[in-house]
Amino acid sequence: MVVGGAAPLRGRLRVPGDKSISHRALLFAALADGRSTVRGLAGGDDVRRTLGVLDRLGADCTGASDAMEVTGRGAEGLREPDDVLDCGNSGTTMRTTAGLLAGRPFLSVLNGDASLRARPMRRVVAPLRELGAQVDGRDDGEHAPLVLRGGDLRGASLRLAVASAQVKTAILLAGLAAGGVTEVVSPAPSRDHTERMLAALGAPVEQAGATVRVRAGAPRAFELTVPGDPSSAAFWCVAATITPGSELTVEGVGLNPTRTGFVDVLRRMHADVEIVQTGEELGEPVGELRVRSAALAGTTIAGDEIANVQDEIPVLAVAAAFADGVTEITDAAELRVKESDRVETVAALLGALGVGVETSADGLVVRGGRPVPGRVASRGDHRIALAGAVAGHALDGATEVEGFEAAAVSYPEFASDLAELTGGRA
Ligand code: S3P
Repeated sequence: MVVGGAAPLRGRLRVPGDKSISHRALLFAALADGRSTVRGLAGGDDVRRTLGVLDRLGADCTGASDAMEVTGRGAEGLREPDDVLDCGNSGTTMRTTAGLLAGRPFLSVLNGDASLRARPMRRVVAPLRELGAQVDGRDDGEHAPLVLRGGDLRGASLRLAVASAQVKTAILLAGLAAGGVTEVVSPAPSRDHTERMLAALGAPVEQAGATVRVRAGAPRAFELTVPGDPSSAAFWCVAATITPGSELTVEGVGLNPTRTGFVDVLRRMHADVEIVQTGEELGEPVGELRVRSAALAGTTIAGDEIANVQDEIPVLAVAAAFADGVTEITDAAELRVKESDRVETVAALLGALGVGVETSADGLVVRGGRPVPGRVASRGDHRIALAGAVAGHALDGATEVEGFEAAAVSYPEFASDLAELTGGRA
C-alpha cells in the first residue's frame, strides 16, 4: 500500500467490532445452553479462528459477522475435535481456548502460525496444570503446539506473574468447570471484558480490585451487538491528530476504561480527543470518540498504564514521532512477545521515516520532530502495518507500507475507510 499527501480526515465512521469482546462472545455463546445472536463481530482473521475452533468442538455457528447465531449445549456439549485446532496468528484464540478445554475430558491439540508458535505459553499452561488439567507443549509447555487432556479441575488461588487478560480469561473459563472457588490475582489491571460480560450473563464471577473469583457455572444465552474496537479507533485518533485540518468522530465504539488508556496518553500529549458515552452492552460502556488535529508534545508511558495501552503502543509511538520533544516508553517488556517483537518493529518503522529512536530491554525512546516519507514494513504484524499507514498518510510525499495485507488480522476495511474519510484524496 502507498500512502501520503496528508489529506485531512473528516466525517464519522464505525470501526470493526471489538476483537477481545468478539472472541469472548463466541466462547461464552458456545458455553451457554441455547441460541445466542452476536451482531457486529470483528471480521478479521483472528476472530474467524475462534469461530473455526468452536465449530470443530461442536458448537453450531451459522451466519456471518453482521449476525452470527451460535447454539451452545453447555460445556458438556463440546466434543473431542477430530483434528488439530488451528489458531492462526491469534494468541487470544489459543490462550482462551486452552482454558475452555482444560475442563473437558478429551484430547485436543492447539497450533498456530510461526509467530504464534514463538510466543510464550507457559504463562497459561502452568496455571491450568495447577487446576488439574494435563497440558503440554514444546519446550516444557512454553511453545505451541499445545496438547491438552482436560479433566476434573479443582479451584485454586493463582497469582499471575504478568498482567495478561488472555491468561486471566483462560483461568476463569477453567474455573467455571472447577470444583470450589478459583481465584486469579493480577499484578496490574488488565482489560476486564471477561469479568463484566460473564457477570452480565449470570455466571458466578466476582471482581474485587485486582482479584477475580469464579465458581462452577455457565453464562446464559444472549444477544449482543459488539461495540467498535477502541484499539482500531486509536489509529484514527492518532491519524486525525497528526494530519492538520482533520475532524472526525468514531461512533459506536467500546469505552471500557481498561481500553481507553490511549486517550489519556494522547490528551497528556495535548491531543484534542473527547469521549462521549451513549449506551452500554452487557456491562460494556459504548459511545463516541471525537477528535480534531492538534500539535503534540512528548510524554512518558510507564508502569501500570502499560497493560492498558500495550496494543496501542505502535500508534502512540507514531504520535510521539510527530510530537515536539522526547517520549519515553518503559516497563513494556511484553511488547517483545506480541505478534512481532514490537520494540524492534516499532523502532524499525520510525527509523525508516527518519525518526530518532533508541530501544531498551523494556521499551523505547522516541525523539519527536518532523518525520519524512520512506519505505516501511509490517513484518507480518497488523498493528505495525496500520501504524505505518497512519504515519505515512500524515506526510507530504509517498510512503510505501510493505506487507500491508497483515492489517486484515484486525482491520480489513482500513484502506477503504481511509479513502472515505479523505473524500478519496488518500
Ligand atoms: C487480549 C489481551 C492482551 C492484548 C491482546 C488481546 C485479550 O494480551 O494484547 O491483543 O483479548 O484478552 P495479553 O493478555 O497477552 O496481555
